[in-house]
Amino acid sequence: MSKDTIKPRAVFATRIGAIATAVGSAVGLGNIWRFPFEAGTHGGGAFMICYIAFIMILGIPVICAEFIIGRHTRANETRAFRRLAPGTPWHLVGYIGLIASILILSFYSVVAGWTLEYFTGSFSLFAADATTADQHQRFGQFISGNWRPVFWTITFLAINFAVLLRGVQKGIERLSNILMPIMFLLLIAFCINSLTMPQASEGLRFLFHPDFSQITPSVLLSAMGQAFFSLSIGLGCMITYGSYFSDRTDLIRCASVTALLDTGVAILAGIIIFPAVFSFGMSPQSGPTLVFEVLPAIFSQLQGGALWSILFFFLLFLASLTSTISMSEISISYFMEEHRMSRTRATTFTIGIAVILGTVCALSFGPLQHITVGGLTAFNLFDYLSSNILLPLGGMLISIFTGWVVDRRIIRTQITKGSRGGSHWLRPIVFCLRYVAPIGIALIFLNSIGII
Ligand code: PHE
Repeated sequence: MSKDTIKPRAVFATRIGAIATAVGSAVGLGNIWRFPFEAGTHGGGAFMICYIAFIMILGIPVICAEFIIGRHTRANETRAFRRLAPGTPWHLVGYIGLIASILILSFYSVVAGWTLEYFTGSFSLFAADATTADQHQRFGQFISGNWRPVFWTITFLAINFAVLLRGVQKGIERLSNILMPIMFLLLIAFCINSLTMPQASEGLRFLFHPDFSQITPSVLLSAMGQAFFSLSIGLGCMITYGSYFSDRTDLIRCASVTALLDTGVAILAGIIIFPAVFSFGMSPQSGPTLVFEVLPAIFSQLQGGALWSILFFFLLFLASLTSTISMSEISISYFMEEHRMSRTRATTFTIGIAVILGTVCALSFGPLQHITVGGLTAFNLFDYLSSNILLPLGGMLISIFTGWVVDRRIIRTQITKGSRGGSHWLRPIVFCLRYVAPIGIALIFLNSIGII
């Protein structure tokens, strides 16, 4: 055994538990909040088609690569690279993931805080006399305020802290196992409701009818960023989770089920939001606030809107929690294993940084909105930097690493363990990791900075 062998790591107890946690990490605000607003600002159908293509040709191979690295090394991200390629700079990829995870945790917690505001405010928000204009105004006032968004961001991070301290298995696995299916059913019910709205067909056309002339470099970059963000890849989250998988887990199956469900939830969210956007005469281009303005309008039209809203925002909050737990786990496992911190200290440290940066992001819709870098507020900057730059960059390096550096026998062993047909996938996956993903991502980067 190598010298850096550490205490036995926790292992997810069941096979379904492994899939459920990967799905729990992937499904979250990225699907329900980020996908609709990104699609809305980037041309609807044009964005959608690129997004789906990227999930298939870049996303699935990269999730597999992360699972392979994680389960083989059973270590945190930086150590995983060190074990597979000792004495090389590859472990630096781990730091990209570390930075990205903290940036994402910070702005993500702000939006998760909005879900808490809506959850707790559902009854007054849907009072019989509240009009769509009232709700719009209320949301605007809320996010630009001085303390409420900060209060909810910190509350959300405090809840994370409590769950994270209870350790990997109990906290995370139980939560996501029980709640994801309920969330799915609720989304289907809302979809059916949206499809009966007067302008439903216009909304569907916007989302599903691609106008190819709208595929610009910025649409390509954003769709790629969304694919990475939504699948929680490129930052080592799935390396960390893969390191907790048992040998009975079928990696390819787990990767494809995760991608399928994740994309399914994003599409359902689109089918809920766009028919409503057009039916209520709103603009699909309103950016990060889109979903939080459209949903209340939908709920007020439903019988018992306040109750639907409470249930929905509660589940959305939990879906966000399983995602933030997975991103926090990247830095917690790093601090514990590389800096020999106790779990409590590592968690306090991670959440502490997120509280500071999250507060800055929370205030960037109000008091700090004029402080910008390259025209972007802290919130937008963190989002842009992590999703559109760091995750694809991390994904490109992870693909090159797995495709070119990792011994092919390791890949074979990992994809055939716990699986009967896994070996058929060896060639296509290695091909994607060696050529398709790195070249594809590089081309999109070059294209977006105007070089090609
Ligand atoms: N995939 C998560 C979502 O869609 C967000 C996330 C990104 C989680 C990166 C972990 C790491 O909400």
